[in-house]
Amino acid sequence: GFLQSGEVHIVGYARTNLSDDGLRGRIRAYLKGASEEHVSEFLQLIKYVSGSYDSGEGFEKLNKEISDYEMSNNSGSSRRLFYLALPPSVYPSVCKMIRTYCMSPTSRFGWTRVIVEKPFGRDLDSAEELSSQLGELFEEDQLYRIDHYLGKELVQNLLVLRFANRLFLPLWNRDNVDNIQIVFREDFGTDGRGGYFDQYGIIRDIIQNHLLQVFCLVAMEKPVSLKPEHIRDEKVKVLQSVNPIKDEEVVLGQYQGYKDDPTVPDDSNTPTFASIVLRVHNERWEGVPFILKAGKALNSRKAEIRVQFKDVPGDIFKCKKQGRNEFVIRLQPSEAMYMKLTVKKPGLEMATEQSELDLSYGMRYQDVKIPEAYERLILDTIRGDQQHFVRRDELKAAWQIFTPLLHDIDAGKLKAVSYKPGSRGPKEADELSEKVGYMQTHGYIWIPPT
Ligand code: BG6
Repeated sequence: GFLQSGEVHIVGYARTNLSDDGLRGRIRAYLKGASEEHVSEFLQLIKYVSGSYDSGEGFEKLNKEISDYEMSNNSGSSRRLFYLALPPSVYPSVCKMIRTYCMSPTSRFGWTRVIVEKPFGRDLDSAEELSSQLGELFEEDQLYRIDHYLGKELVQNLLVLRFANRLFLPLWNRDNVDNIQIVFREDFGTDGRGGYFDQYGIIRDIIQNHLLQVFCLVAMEKPVSLKPEHIRDEKVKVLQSVNPIKDEEVVLGQYQGYKDDPTVPDDSNTPTFASIVLRVHNERWEGVPFILKAGKALNSRKAEIRVQFKDVPGDIFKCKKQGRNEFVIRLQPSEAMYMKLTVKKPGLEMATEQSELDLSYGMRYQDVKIPEAYERLILDTIRGDQQHFVRRDELKAAWQIFTPLLHDIDAGKLKAVSYKPGSRGPKEADELSEKVGYMQTHGYIWIPPT
């Protein structure tokens, strides 16, 4: 309901020769669950222009298509949003073309904004170079560096959870938290994307961006306000407080069969799995390991944050044997938050067991449709809200953390160990988690001696 369909016009642009109906036909296949009437109405908003990524001719055609629509629609304003789903190597030339040929002509109500997808570079230097190139063409408030994890419901919930609940304020620190895991698992491999993936690997594909953004929201201090700049200031601060990563706190893996993809070189050392411990050097987190773990071709598909609390001092119940309090935020699938608690096992015996305080979104919010991450973030761009987008200095700080490690991997100094597809990943990763303090919970029942 935010935009009326008459106010939206979508133009696809690529090198392929295609008619408007050709593009509509391709899109139709993805529009599921809507009535035929809505689908046709939506498809009528779509046009297509073909052209190369570095020739003025194509972008002039694109501009004409947009301008003709704006004139016929007579809206008096021209709000142009460009979404680049392209290899970053062509970002500079495409942005230059947009800047030269396709900017919104009205300054009063109009705007031009550009959404760019990761990977923003391969390391600190290349990312900085890309940032400077784009920075010469667009102001920071015109550039939207998208990280779709920031559009996920439970990621957006993190700020509210941490700063609107008295319960968590005194607990969220080194005095009470033993360790924090941020985990991403996929139960499928690179599936035909091997050529792309091998250039980047799991750290650049998932950890340096998606998991690190989640880390920021879990670890940062309270922002002065909800203004995008205030939130991003705190993210930069916590990123700058991360210590250099130690080689002995890294496990890399590659699933067996990854190199069967013909586009992957036979001697590839690219990790499809990584577990990396981050240590934050500040008053709140000194000594608390943040274990960032991501892997492809594992036994399940899941993304979650696990905050594990310290053992109870002066414990009279031997709770330790059962497991610690653990607060789990499951980002997907089936969004949920649950707290593992030790309770008296109901019944005549004085026995204890692990149970859960459980808030499953599917149960609690049955009638609410949780928006797709991209749906929300594109709407934010239209509204001009950069709160959930990555600022240039944030990106730089993120690359600063991982670049030395990535260079060592690229130089073959750190090797990926092989793991079976469909497994939990390398056993060395579980050993590392345990070594730095993570304790598996067993729900073990203890009955005290009489
Ligand atoms: C993308 C990665 O950014 O995120 C993919 O490039 C990955 O490799 C995907 O599969 C995961 O997104 P989601 O939302 O399915 O967890």
